[in-house]
Amino acid sequence: MDCVGGRKHKSEKDIKQCNTVYCTPYLGVWKERAMETIKGESVQPKAPIIYNPFDPEVHADPYPHYRELREQDPVHRGEVDLWVLTRYDDIATLLRDPRLGHEVTQGVDGGGSADWESMLFRDPPAHTRLRSLVSKAFTPRVLESLRTRIENIVDDALSVARENGSMDVIGDLAFPLPATVVSEMLGLPVEDHQQCRQWATSATRALDPLADDRLMDEIFLSLIEFREYLAEQVERRRAQPGDDLITALIAAEEEGERLSHEELISTLLLLFTAGHETATNLIGNGLLALLRNPDQLRRLKQDPGLMRPALEELLRYDSPVQFVIRIAKEPMTFGGQDFVRGDGMLLVIGAGNRDPAQFADPDTLDVGRKNIKHLSFGGGIHFCLGSMLARMETQAVLGGLISQFSELELAADDVRWRPHINLRGLESLPIRVG
Ligand code: HEM
Repeated sequence: MDCVGGRKHKSEKDIKQCNTVYCTPYLGVWKERAMETIKGESVQPKAPIIYNPFDPEVHADPYPHYRELREQDPVHRGEVDLWVLTRYDDIATLLRDPRLGHEVTQGVDGGGSADWESMLFRDPPAHTRLRSLVSKAFTPRVLESLRTRIENIVDDALSVARENGSMDVIGDLAFPLPATVVSEMLGLPVEDHQQCRQWATSATRALDPLADDRLMDEIFLSLIEFREYLAEQVERRRAQPGDDLITALIAAEEEGERLSHEELISTLLLLFTAGHETATNLIGNGLLALLRNPDQLRRLKQDPGLMRPALEELLRYDSPVQFVIRIAKEPMTFGGQDFVRGDGMLLVIGAGNRDPAQFADPDTLDVGRKNIKHLSFGGGIHFCLGSMLARMETQAVLGGLISQFSELELAADDVRWRPHINLRGLESLPIRVG
């Protein structure tokens, strides 16, 4: 039996669960059609494609294309029954609209799926229960206790860079820093950190629409292995409690109905993956934006007090997460369009962040910009739980680089973006320091 994406399934119920915007092969169909359109082979697309995240030009710099879409068709019916929204106000409103959900089976009959037990893919009341348990780990006091550790990791990496006169900011710091911090928060053994990073890197690719079955199999294998590993770590902590997040969540699980074992594992998986590549991308995209705008880098050097607004501006300017997905829980009208139950919507936060109706001169990087209410951490009930941690990590890296080196220069003619279309970030960022 096939789902709309052409994937084989064992039962009707599995098909129903797969026939949503999360069906990755389904989105793969989108990619194929989009590629055909680029090559001029398209038969009769439903609407002229304006938003095509797979176009190499769009991938390298999506912002001119977002502008076109926002101006011409801000509530755009995509080629494969997926709405694409690009106006700031629409996105900010819909993120808080209770008629939309994030539960994978929204719009189809049958309950929740065991594969999607984390808070990110749940609606209230399950979302409220899961989020309140995990929120306890992100108190200002817990975060403050991580500050020194973060600064030490940054200082060590910058000392090596000073000796070498150069570094790859992604490989040497932006990638290992958030992964180390989140591994230590969870209490994972240090010898496993490298393996966990590999699993997480592979698992986050599941957030992207991909057509390639081989890659999908790799992703699923990583997810299975990572889940098995996390289950072992939970058993280890059950036998030998520690001062870490796994132990704290086990205590919640043992209190009874509040957190099932599946939910516990999914939560650990979410924390690791959500706190990993996103923060890497913020550091990389932010530094690249500063290096490409040397006047703004100079301003920041001269006035370190600008670091706080600068960070928000960097989040706005090149968002590490380009879109979030929501599903209509009921028929509704919005932006002059009718949506039916089960309709998927791509809320393109990267586009909303460049909307001139919200931000004056949105394509200009201005580290002194005031009152920046960007969408980069989402909004509403799913607002990013790790936003303060991500800010702390990024501030430590950018602040360290700016205060410790008088010269910072891009050491490559061009940069290469990772193939992901949602998590926007660099493969590497070689710089010269002095
Ligand atoms: C610059 C770095 C980061 C960015 C841009 C980012 C972005 C986001 C966005 C856009 C969402 C909302 C997703 C949606 O509404 O569908 C989200 C949710 C979430 N983020 Fe982050 N994130 C970052 C770092 C982190 C870190 C460091 C952690 C934790 C260690 C984290 C944990 C979470 C969690 C647990 C959620 C789910 C919240 C919920 O469903 O209630 N994030 N993040």
